[in-house]
Amino acid sequence: MDTLIALQNRLQELETIAQELERPDQAFRANQPDPAAEETFAYAKSFLSSLFNQKAFVEDVTTPKLLQQYPPQEEPRRVKEIFELLHRVFDNVSLNAASGGHLAYIPGGGLYYAALGDYLAAVTNKYSTVFYISPVAVKMENLLVRWMCELVGYPADKSGGYLTSGGSLANLSAIVAARDAKQIKAQLIPQSVVYFTHQVHHCVLKDLRVAGLAECIIREVPMNEAYEMRADALAEMIEADLKQGLHPWLVVASAGSTDVSAIDPLNDIADIAEKHGLWFHVDAAYGGFFLLTETGKQKMKGIHRADSIVMDPHKGLFMPYGTGAVIVKDVQTLWRSNHFDANYMQDAIPYHDEISPADISPELSRHFRGLRVWLPLQLHGLKPFRAALEEKILLTQYFYYQVKSLGFETGPFPQLSVMIYRFVPTHLKGNIEAINAYNANLLKKINADGKVFISSTSLNGEYWLRLAVLSFRTHRWHIDHLLQLLKQFTENERKQVPDAHHVN
Ligand SMILES: Cc1ncc(COP(=O)(O)O)c(C=O)c1O
Repeated sequence: MDTLIALQNRLQELETIAQELERPDQAFRANQPDPAAEETFAYAKSFLSSLFNQKAFVEDVTTPKLLQQYPPQEEPRRVKEIFELLHRVFDNVSLNAASGGHLAYIPGGGLYYAALGDYLAAVTNKYSTVFYISPVAVKMENLLVRWMCELVGYPADKSGGYLTSGGSLANLSAIVAARDAKQIKAQLIPQSVVYFTHQVHHCVLKDLRVAGLAECIIREVPMNEAYEMRADALAEMIEADLKQGLHPWLVVASAGSTDVSAIDPLNDIADIAEKHGLWFHVDAAYGGFFLLTETGKQKMKGIHRADSIVMDPHKGLFMPYGTGAVIVKDVQTLWRSNHFDANYMQDAIPYHDEISPADISPELSRHFRGLRVWLPLQLHGLKPFRAALEEKILLTQYFYYQVKSLGFETGPFPQLSVMIYRFVPTHLKGNIEAINAYNANLLKKINADGKVFISSTSLNGEYWLRLAVLSFRTHRWHIDHLLQLLKQFTENERKQVPDAHHVN
């Protein structure tokens, strides 16, 4: 009896303390504002309303150290103090990835309505991987996946996929499905050959390693001058490998490479993959959503012939980081690699007309990603997405012509919205190290200005500046500002270039 009373008393004590976690619920129940919620929305409002005037980059790696003074402690901290801290560590520190001036790596922006979707997903804490437990979240994700399958031209009956946290994990999932579909087991790995070009994103190599395939033979297929895979070279390599008794099994094409937005010849590669029974994977993490434009559709003809495709909503659909997607022509391939039963899941009845993401992915409990994608698509409609993507292609072409007229060298004409360029001062011609150093210094000066943020790449030992236009907030102003800076910082050297014109 005493034990029971002691237990009840302790429960009461614990409930009183634990109820701190329900503070916001209580405030809303009493029809009162929650100060942290108010601060959050005030922060979002002030951030977005001043975004155009904020810098895209401020080099600062010391401010984040402030966080070290705030380890979790027993007592709650004051809302004001914490939001002041967030202002200090968020504002003007390093890359501002929401800025339209973010022209480096692969930007996206981060749509506000996606944040509202995330907010509701977290508030309601909907489970999102098992249809029986959360049919709405699963249906929403499956319909988004269906829409993506239609976009690439996959047949409706068998195709499928799921939303991942990003492109690297989406590629991993495709590689694992390919590995199992082609039965690449331990003994076969050292004779098994994978083909891609030097342009392939490094996550594909990482994913091969993570998938236990590091000992496969990797063939870098030669490219043409536009950094696209040479299908004839691929065919020859496969024939040669077959003659040697090797086992070609996977070809990875890029549909929009990270360096230069190169698109490999998808139809030709599909022909070869089909002829020799290879799994054909397309990494369209960056380029995939350009299929919403006429240009993209033309350039990615044949993508529907791939066995698997990766396309990232946190790139071409402008979602905040944390959303990729893998789709496959035959969803059973994902199912076979991932499906598991467990006794504690015995009442999660399978519904055969609705696939559960838990059955085709390695994840079980995870963020309800569908809502952050679904909400902006519903509230904005597709039209502005198509327009923004076409705008990005044209902005890149505009930059291409303008930077050339400033006397810069460029890489190939941009297929989509990433391109490379560099300045070769006359007095440095032939001196590769000095040219590289000159352009690295140019990048430093541009990023020190901070209104735009750019990155670079190396191709055959040459340092190239990169332009990556994919944030929905990037418009002509940002490109003109970059051109203006490039003009200003090369002024002295350009005087020596006879055919350099001036940007208006
Ligand atoms: C072509 C391509 N594939 C894969 C990835 C990796 O995607 P994530 O950064 O979402 O993991 C990227 C990232 O930029 C990419 O451009």
